[in-house]
Amino acid sequence: MHSQINFGYPWYLSWGHLLLALPFALAAWRLRNRWVRAVCLVVVLWALSAWAVLQVGLGVQRRAVLPTARFLASGSGRVLDLGAGTGRSALMVLEARPRATLVALDEFGRSFEMHFGKSAEHLLLENLKAAGVASRVTVEKADMRKIPFGDGSFDAIVSAYAIDHLRRSGAEETLREAYRVLKPGGEFLFIVTNGDFWLRYMAGPLLVHNRMRGMEDWRPILTGPGFQVAEEGNSPGTLFVLLRKPAMAP
Ligand SMILES: C[S@@+](CC[C@H](N)C(=O)[O-])C[C@H]1O[C@@H](n2cnc3c(N)ncnc32)[C@H](O)[C@@H]1O
Repeated sequence: MHSQINFGYPWYLSWGHLLLALPFALAAWRLRNRWVRAVCLVVVLWALSAWAVLQVGLGVQRRAVLPTARFLASGSGRVLDLGAGTGRSALMVLEARPRATLVALDEFGRSFEMHFGKSAEHLLLENLKAAGVASRVTVEKADMRKIPFGDGSFDAIVSAYAIDHLRRSGAEETLREAYRVLKPGGEFLFIVTNGDFWLRYMAGPLLVHNRMRGMEDWRPILTGPGFQVAEEGNSPGTLFVLLRKPAMAP
């Protein structure tokens, strides 16, 4: 059942660095000049490390694992996925929380096409079906900066590698909207690429989407609407923050 899942990310995110390493490895093996060989070996080492960083930190073709067991620890509730894409973040939540339901919201516009190509919308439903969770999901086509749901509609929100594609003002709007549609006491699992050393210098700047580099840049955007930071953590290239809307929210 699981083998049918295809998140549709471009192949070069998973294999590009290995492909780059190949000619340099061949050159290092065949050429006699030791300086040229040394340079080739440095490139090979960099490419292999970058590949490892992307595999460990993002691993976009693999199933994602919840970065914290504290998210929706009750195991049930109505969850909103902001920028659901082809379902990787939705599956992460639905498989770890088998009594939860989820609204997969995505604009399915230019950004979607840039990541997954034209006509890839079918991948979302196919992945949910292949994982046996489709009956717990509804799909909503919308802009996450203007969430088309009423105040306090959700017990929890998840968003992975989506809000970092917005400009700062768009991210601020989205966080305000997320705060509005979350119930008091609700949680928001916020996951973005982290413009840390690993992503910028090892894996390549292509994946650093905006000026927000790490927690210090994100903190005012996250706490501005009133969220409290319950937990935060990193893996190479990824930042996650568990946010909580106070139970006695104003
Ligand atoms: C890198 S993908 C992440 C998909 C998924 N969350 C995952 O973890 O694989 C970013 C997604 O955000 C969506 N997106 C970007 N801007 C958006 C917006 N303003 N409103 C709704 N979705 C948006 C894109 O369409 C794309 O599907």
